[in-house]
Amino acid sequence: MKILILNGPNLNLLGVREKAVYGNRSFEDYFEELKEAFPALELSYFQSNTEGVLIDKLHEVGFSYKGIIFNAGAYTHTSVAIPDAIKAIDTPVVEVHISNVYKREAFRHKSMIAPHCAGSIVGFGLESYRLALQYFERLKPKQI
Ligand code: DQA
Repeated sequence: MKILILNGPNLNLLGVREKAVYGNRSFEDYFEELKEAFPALELSYFQSNTEGVLIDKLHEVGFSYKGIIFNAGAYTHTSVAIPDAIKAIDTPVVEVHISNVYKREAFRHKSMIAPHCAGSIVGFGLESYRLALQYFERLKPKQI
């Protein structure tokens, strides 16, 4: 079961950027832990700082993968093209955020993508991604 973790702008700087908000671990390091924790899922990871590249990736995997876990970063609050892309594809998308955006500035309280996602997981640090994977893992057909 193929699952893509897709990270948007500035998330390449996890572990370096605003550590009090986003922690001191790189996503690449955490991704190794996730791969070990979910051996039955075929996990891949992609990050871009560019809106169009994120949209191209949604189109590329969005008709064949079983799930997409998407942290769109600041594009969450501003983009029209990304929610259009999520609407255009078949694969369900789970929105994740590391920080609790509802405890932060008012402009972060609005998600343009949430209405088009299967659900949203917000504010559990990097563990937000693990919780989203648990959701997809439970969708697996039960093994006999
Ligand atoms: C974020 C929250 C966004 O508001 C912010 O622009 C980010 C990261 C999060 O994971 O908490 O870049 O998506």
